[in-house]
Amino acid sequence: MLRTEFGALLCRGRKKRIVTLILILIFLINAMFYVSFELYNTVMRKNKKLWYNRLKYDKNSYVDESGMRVIVGHYVGGIGGANLSEEIMHTNNYSPVPGAGEGGRPVQLSPRELITARELYTLHSYNILVSDRIAINRSLPDMRSDSCRSVVYDTEELPTASVIIVFHNEAWSTLMRTIMSVLMRSPQLLLKQIILVDDASDRRYLSEELDNAVANLDKVQILRSSNRNGLVGARLMGARVATGDVLVFLDAHCEVTKGWLEPLLDRAGNDDVFICPHIDLLSEDTLAYTKSIDAHWGAFSWRLHFRWLTPSGDVMLKKIRNPSKPYPTPAMAGGLFAVRKSLFWRLGGYDSGMLIWGAENLELSWRAWQCGARVEITPCSRVGHIFRRHSPYKYPGGVSKVLNSNLARAATVWMDEWADFFFKFNPPISAIRDQQNVYDRVELRKNLHCKSFEWYLENVWPQHFFPTTKRWFGRIKNEKGACLGITGGTPGLGAPALGLQCGTDLDLDRLLVYTPEGKIMADEGLCLQQGNGRAVWKSCSDNKKQIWVQDGARLKTISGSCLTLLISEKNSDGIDEALTSKRCVEDDSQIWHFERVPWR
Ligand SMILES: *[C@@H]1O[C@H](CO)[C@@H](O)[C@H](O)[C@H]1NC(C)=O
Ligand SMILES: *[C@@H]1O[C@H](CO)[C@@H](O)[C@H](O)[C@H]1NC(C)=O
Repeated sequence: MLRTEFGALLCRGRKKRIVTLILILIFLINAMFYVSFELYNTVMRKNKKLWYNRLKYDKNSYVDESGMRVIVGHYVGGIGGANLSEEIMHTNNYSPVPGAGEGGRPVQLSPRELITARELYTLHSYNILVSDRIAINRSLPDMRSDSCRSVVYDTEELPTASVIIVFHNEAWSTLMRTIMSVLMRSPQLLLKQIILVDDASDRRYLSEELDNAVANLDKVQILRSSNRNGLVGARLMGARVATGDVLVFLDAHCEVTKGWLEPLLDRAGNDDVFICPHIDLLSEDTLAYTKSIDAHWGAFSWRLHFRWLTPSGDVMLKKIRNPSKPYPTPAMAGGLFAVRKSLFWRLGGYDSGMLIWGAENLELSWRAWQCGARVEITPCSRVGHIFRRHSPYKYPGGVSKVLNSNLARAATVWMDEWADFFFKFNPPISAIRDQQNVYDRVELRKNLHCKSFEWYLENVWPQHFFPTTKRWFGRIKNEKGACLGITGGTPGLGAPALGLQCGTDLDLDRLLVYTPEGKIMADEGLCLQQGNGRAVWKSCSDNKKQIWVQDGARLKTISGSCLTLLISEKNSDGIDEALTSKRCVEDDSQIWHFERVPWR
């Protein structure tokens, strides 16, 4: 139809020529657009990022809404369940499928296989079916950032490494993949040896079969302990025979990536630092390699559970300016780190009174910082690690007994007044406080002239959320009856703040720190913040919306509105009701009582 109308126009003399010209122009312009669009598309396709660059991080297992908090350092004991036969437990079923998991890609199972895989979870707390299908020498992409790739190391000048890997009933394929990844991706010149320490495994495939597999590998040796020593004892065993300049401790379910060793050795050479790699994620289900969030550091909650948190503002700024530089962390996760052998021993190795596993990472971190060394993370060394939700191990005497006694030791030796805080609110741990013989560790602290825990909090972790002599501590209770507080478990960041039933003087979830600047801090590093509408619990930060200035019995935001408990007809005491900041009025819902509770 259009065509006939244009046709009619075209047939009229001079007008015809003009119209033809216009049509040609329109055609040309269109063609230009088309060509540039196609060009753009081609370029985009070419630049299309590799699959692993598009991956951000595995949100479910790692991060919640607006920050990050993984439970790495806190295993919660075995999961029981399936009844597995001796044969299944003791057999190595490694049979690689060509291509499976190459490049760090996930391995998917059929629904039927998934059922089997779930049953076998009890064995290792990760998907053993998937692990057994992936070649032990699988390829992985270079996970480093551009700025890290451009750092040049003088390999001749770097110290040498003894890699120490402790295992207890690990899967054969996972353990071998850890070893192979180290052998494949470490410069010959720098890797002195790999020391495997078998901490009393009883799986048959880890005896002769492992010996044979390792016999063909250069530089790998196995030490075996017939008694269960635990992580600390076994690592000490390995460290004692290490001949390299630097000890590099790795868990037995890791895979290192290209360029992982040089940045660790470069920094560890300095003799004043425990240096940790950037830990990425190996999915426990698919063994896919996933990058973890770029900036995180390690710290701990009031209950001394290890936590990943967002680093302080000034550390973040320095990271942006210098993205390949190591940055300090208040604590390490503990599984993976490097340290100059001389420094390790000078600072007292590990606390050999610690059983099996747990809290040794905090003890080591505090000792390092307080006794004149540092703990850092280098973003340029990237190591994948399987984070398990449960520990598949047996803990003699029960997991809490083991963990509690380790925590009691660490707190007693290093935390000063904050040890009293910890014990006061954890009566079961307090009960075993006096059973710990920590005489030699206390002597060590004296001999090394280590600094106080107060120094540590003020200088290494000034953003901490613990009570201090300068901070108020207690319950904040509304005139209507409800208290401020967080709810059990790991509270979601950005969770709406609610009026809660007030607790006892020992109920940590209802106790708060109120800082001189006006921050209301709860355990887990959560601060009360005026959100869009409701008040919420968010990771403590420099956000001005986290400031609540005390004005008589009111708590005012920077903009002068008052913290208000929204009372409904149903709940006249305000329990389970939301909080917000509103214009200040004469109303009980804006009246807050500060009930001080001694924190130690
Ligand atoms: C586990 O297996 C053993 C031996 O096959 C059997 O006696 C026992 O009842 C089983 N237990 C469960 C919980 O299925
Ligand atoms: C792994 O080893 C096998 C057999 O030795 C070899 O064919 C394969 O190319 C290796 N894969 C990689 C990624 O090096």
